[in-house]
Amino acid sequence: MTEHTIHYPVLPHIAQRWSPRTYLPDAIPEDLVRSMFEAARWTPSSRNAQPWHYVYAHHADAIAFQDLLHCVNPSNQTWAKNAGLLVACIAETGIPEQPHLNRHAYYDLGAANFALTMQALEYGIYVRQMGGFNVALARELLDLPLHMDPVVFLAAGYPGESKKPINLRKVQHDWAKPFKPSADARNV
Ligand SMILES: Cc1cc2nc3c(=O)[nH]c(=O)nc-3n(C[C@H](O)[C@H](O)[C@H](O)COP(=O)(O)O)c2cc1C
Repeated sequence: MTEHTIHYPVLPHIAQRWSPRTYLPDAIPEDLVRSMFEAARWTPSSRNAQPWHYVYAHHADAIAFQDLLHCVNPSNQTWAKNAGLLVACIAETGIPEQPHLNRHAYYDLGAANFALTMQALEYGIYVRQMGGFNVALARELLDLPLHMDPVVFLAAGYPGESKKPINLRKVQHDWAKPFKPSADARNV
């Protein structure tokens, strides 16, 4: 078995998901985008705080798209400029008086993003996340107070390349280590 073999059965969307850097120029219909955010909306969250906020732009919304694109690192801009959709993902980490009140906000945002990603896959839309962006610039562009933290940007679109073996996709190859049952079965 190679590193990119699926060792144990998983849901089809889990197996299908990957993060392309090449996108076809096809526009993503707005109703599909709405369904992606609807999936995020139904994600469980600590105290049902739903501490996620999204700002998005279609490729065709030239000014808004360029504004978001400008926030991501130049290396990400080279490919993200072709995505059908760019999304800024913001965690609401508290209230103005206590900006760090909700320590689960990042956890909940990540879960919401995964739901969004799975919903997108249903339509053949693939998401790549970008932690590489200019936080200060994003804060300024989106006029974010301290209790709103921009965490990640998403690029989404119809992939213009096919799924690559997982060992070519990982930034750090040890992320892709196959699961090995340990003596303590709960310790995965
Ligand atoms: C929080 C986070 C930040 C990431 N930041 C970037 C990024 O700035 N640029 C990029 O090209 N990929 C980024 N990625 C994508 C990962 O590199 C990618 O998910 C990983 O290599 C595994 O590949 P796969 O998603 O195709 O399975 C990020 C992923 C996550 C979860």
